[in-house]
Amino acid sequence: MGAPPRPPGVVLVGFMGSGKSAVGRELAARLDLPFVDTDELIVAAAGPIERIFAARGEGGFRALEAETVLREVKGLGDSPKVLALGGGAVLAEEVRAALRRLGRVVWLAAPADVLWGRVNDAGGPARPLAQDREAFGALLAAREPLYREVATLTVQAIEGDPAGVASRIVRLLGGDAGDDPIGPGPREGAA
Ligand code: S3P
Repeated sequence: MGAPPRPPGVVLVGFMGSGKSAVGRELAARLDLPFVDTDELIVAAAGPIERIFAARGEGGFRALEAETVLREVKGLGDSPKVLALGGGAVLAEEVRAALRRLGRVVWLAAPADVLWGRVNDAGGPARPLAQDREAFGALLAAREPLYREVATLTVQAIEGDPAGVASRIVRLLGGDAGDDPIGPGPREGAA
C-alpha cells in the first residue's frame, strides 16, 4: 500500500479581526498541515504593513499582496497547507478567480461590532484601514460580497475560541454540515 493521500489545502478569508491567523493555526494542527499567513510573508519580505502603506500607498501594498497570494494559492496543489489571507486580498479579481478555481475556501464571518472590538484589542498588528469605526463598517459591507463570491464554506466566527472555530471547520469540511450551535447570523454550511 502507498502512503495515504495528503489532505488538500484550505484557504481562510475574512475581514480584519475575523481570527484568520489564530483559527488557521488551530486548523492546521488538526489537519496536520503547515500554516502560512500571507501578511506574515509580506512583512518578512517588505517590512511592517503600515510602513508599506506609508511608503507605497494602498495600491503598492495591494500589488505586493496580490503577487504573494497568487504565488501561495498556486503552490497549494503541490504543497497542501492552511493559508490565511489578509482581509483585502479578495479585492484583486485575479486572486478571486484563483480562489474560485481552488475551492475549499472558508470565510470567517462576523458582524462589524465584533470585528471592530477585536482589532482594537491590545497586542494586534497595526492596521491602516482600521482607524475609524464608520469607515471600517462601510469597508466590511463592500467586502462581504467578495468573500461570499469565493467561499465554499461560511463559518460564523462570532463566539468561541479559535480552537472551537477550527473544530467546527473540520467537521463542516468533512461534509457533516449542520446548523451551527454558535451565534446568530446566517446558517453555516457549504455555499
Ligand atoms: C487589510 C487587512 C490586514 C492587512 C492590511 C490590510 C485589509 O490583514 O493585510 O492591514 O485591507 O482588510 P488582516 O485581515 O489579517 O488584519
